[in-house]
Amino acid sequence: MDKLLIEGGTPLAGEVAISGAKNAALPLLCAALLTREPLTLTNLPALNDIDTMLKLLAQMGVKVEKVGAGGTASATANAVTLDASGLDNPVAPYEMVKTMRAAVLVLGPLVARCGEARVSLPGGCAIGARPVDQHIKGLTAMGAEIAVEQGYVHATSPRLKGARLFTDMVTVTGTENLMMAACLADGDSVIENAAREPEVVDLANCLIAMGARISGAGTDVIRIQGVARLHGATHRIMPDRIETGTYLCAAAAAGGQIRLTHTSASYLDAVIDKLMDAGCAIAIEHNALTLKAPPRLKAVGIRTAPYPAFPTDMQAQFMAINAVADGTAVIRETIFENRFMHAVELIRLGADIRIDGNTAFVTGVPKLDGATVMATDLRASASLVIAGLVARGETLIERIYHLDRGYENLEQKLAALGARVKRVK
Ligand code: EPZ
Repeated sequence: MDKLLIEGGTPLAGEVAISGAKNAALPLLCAALLTREPLTLTNLPALNDIDTMLKLLAQMGVKVEKVGAGGTASATANAVTLDASGLDNPVAPYEMVKTMRAAVLVLGPLVARCGEARVSLPGGCAIGARPVDQHIKGLTAMGAEIAVEQGYVHATSPRLKGARLFTDMVTVTGTENLMMAACLADGDSVIENAAREPEVVDLANCLIAMGARISGAGTDVIRIQGVARLHGATHRIMPDRIETGTYLCAAAAAGGQIRLTHTSASYLDAVIDKLMDAGCAIAIEHNALTLKAPPRLKAVGIRTAPYPAFPTDMQAQFMAINAVADGTAVIRETIFENRFMHAVELIRLGADIRIDGNTAFVTGVPKLDGATVMATDLRASASLVIAGLVARGETLIERIYHLDRGYENLEQKLAALGARVKRVK
């Protein structure tokens, strides 16, 4: 298993390009199932989760071809063309779903396109139970017959019917699944209490380019008029706001000044607000951001909540920057029931953190000291990288396959910013 060795204490300087958003790309890949015509996605990030999803689609009978500039086949290009005309196996097997919960995003499209789906339940994950009951509730409301047995969701429906869909809580992939299914339903659907995340909007924009009739994406009420079929399209995946926020936090904590390109500040208001409260100077350009760190950060409290509030996927990174800030920060995690596993690892580096239920009290310390720590989930790993950049001496992070799921070329990008980091076997 790969490890990441970081020599801390070096302020960051330089510029990196942000990749396409993992959490936009995953549902967009599944949208290809909704049509017999080719869907091309550009600005595709090279991540393990993307590879897993492409493998899952290929075993269903989807033709997957990485394309370079000008449409020529190329293994390294960051674009892919998916052709689901040969879709003949509407099954998402356990061994592929257990490593990536987002595989549940094939459920809605498969039922809508093929009239049936057999999708393994994702099973728990480190940060919480993360059930898919709202996905099932919505599809049932659209007329699907759904049985959950032997760890699989079996869904059938000759043709889904438009319906009024209400989710008990805001669910990002739940909204995405139901929006995709409703595109091909007979009649109109309304999703109330819909997720407003930018990745939901990016998916809606692609579906509209494919001929779907959707309005309200980005608000908590999304209206979809079902159509008989969708056609192919080409869509550029939006930039990754969480990757952007992660590098901003790295520079905030390590010190120095960095510039991030191919990204946008417009989806990061809550995060940028908090970084400025912490004392960072942030310059916003059309598709770039510059952050200049203060000599010492001020503690900033956060409370995670659905977009546009502070994103839960940035909570771990803010625990790391608060570990070395002046003062005590109160961090409240309201989305997932167990998303503080990075705390004990940060404490091994010298952080002063007390957990009480879904609240963490982080008191800044003058310095962290390098140690061997273990990554437990994607964003927890990112917080350990940030802490390693700040800590005196060497930090060795184990199980960094978690990082490879969500951060493209992490060590290359960090090295480009002057960090002393290398991957060791
Ligand atoms: C998406 O997960 C993201 N993943 C997560 O990012 C992100 O943390 C999360 O949204 C919240 O923003 C992708 O988009 C691929 P939810 P998702 O459904 O959709 C409960 C990362 O690090 N819930 O919005 O699975 C659920 O347990 C990942 O990139 C139900 O109870 O999250 C959670 O407590 C981690 N029943 C809350 O709702 C359901 O049917 C929000 O979950 C669905 C959700």
